[in-house]
Amino acid sequence: MKATNIFLIGLMGSGKTTIGKLLAKKLNRSFIDTDQLIEQKTGVDVSMIFEFEGERGFRDRETKLLSDLSEKLNHVISTGGGVVLSKFNRDIISNSGTTFYLKTYPKELSLRLKNDKTRPLLKNTDVERKLTELYEERCSLYETTADYIIETKNKRATQIVLEIEEKLNSYENN
Ligand code: S3P
Repeated sequence: MKATNIFLIGLMGSGKTTIGKLLAKKLNRSFIDTDQLIEQKTGVDVSMIFEFEGERGFRDRETKLLSDLSEKLNHVISTGGGVVLSKFNRDIISNSGTTFYLKTYPKELSLRLKNDKTRPLLKNTDVERKLTELYEERCSLYETTADYIIETKNKRATQIVLEIEEKLNSYENN
């Protein structure tokens, strides 16, 4: 049996934070959102970190945080969408928990995020085109890192949480 953290991975807007919070509550576990924790630690938001330190600076902070979190047990951890870009991060995730990829397609994500002001990668760009690009670049990374792929299309958050719980139960019983 792998370490007991539960990781949620997927593109921005796929519901990792919402679902992670609900799941943690249901399972009576602590919840961590890596972006929020980086913001708490630095005292500034993710956009500001991108502005001052570039994407590279943000990625370094993300990796450092993830290494620290791999020491934790029994947490539900929602990650930033780009976490899978680094092999080092992917290995940490694979080795320290059970991972769910919340698979949402770019069209739906762009409807959710078209007015978003908090994601630096979506600033001053065609949101749907950018999300399609990110999807194409990352989908196979999400799929190979995940233990389970959860399609989110037309599902409520509560239904997705139930699906994750079912998978966890079947995992634990095997
Ligand atoms: C990013 C996703 C964001 C945040 C940063 C970069 C990405 O997190 O980490 O803006 O590269 O996809 P969410 O997936 O929580 O929005």
